[in-house]
Amino acid sequence: MKSIVILISGRGSNMQAIVNACAAEHWPARVAAVISNRPQAAGLAFAAAHGIATAVVDHEAFATREGFDDALANAIDAHAPDLVVLAGFMRILGPRFVTRYEGRMLNIHPSLVPAFPGLRTHERALEAGCKVHGATVHFVTTSLDHGPIVAQAVVPVLPGDTAETLAARVLEREHVLYPRAVHWFIVGELHTAAGIVTHTRGSPQQLL
Ligand code: GAR
Repeated sequence: MKSIVILISGRGSNMQAIVNACAAEHWPARVAAVISNRPQAAGLAFAAAHGIATAVVDHEAFATREGFDDALANAIDAHAPDLVVLAGFMRILGPRFVTRYEGRMLNIHPSLVPAFPGLRTHERALEAGCKVHGATVHFVTTSLDHGPIVAQAVVPVLPGDTAETLAARVLEREHVLYPRAVHWFIVGELHTAAGIVTHTRGSPQQLL
């Protein structure tokens, strides 16, 4: 049985999708803990209601990024995870932290990476006149919102879209994409060589 720790900062809808898929699909894994850097994160209540350990490591309580990163690593390591999942976790993590979990930490970013790292991805896709947009699950590296790409979901940009309508269309796909990618990791079906991730059975890594 593999152990997963999920980091959130807010709503936690991707975390919920992963918790639900793990139970419904009988993954050989359990979500051991959900940890937030914000005490008010709405997702904490969902996790607690599902019998999952929760913890808060409030970044505002730390004078330095390294101090926060170390406290977060301690909270994570208490659950000895095989995989750390960033699900709407909105803090930049330092190189020592990232290196500690290299190859076993995934992130989801609401753009077709390497496009639009950082914030306001949906607004920026509209401003750029993109005709397609989407979300990416990738291994975390020291490059913000970038790293070996595990899977991507593509959605059309439609006439009349606002950042809100586009975000909603992307989020719906995130909830399918992220559980699928996490499951692949858990069952050992991902292979990374020279920064390129392949699926060992050749499953399509794009959701269209
Ligand atoms: C999601 O859209 C996720 O892709 C994004 O934050 C949202 C969190 O929603 N993540 C990032 O922007 C990371 N750079 P959720 O809390 O409901 O899962």
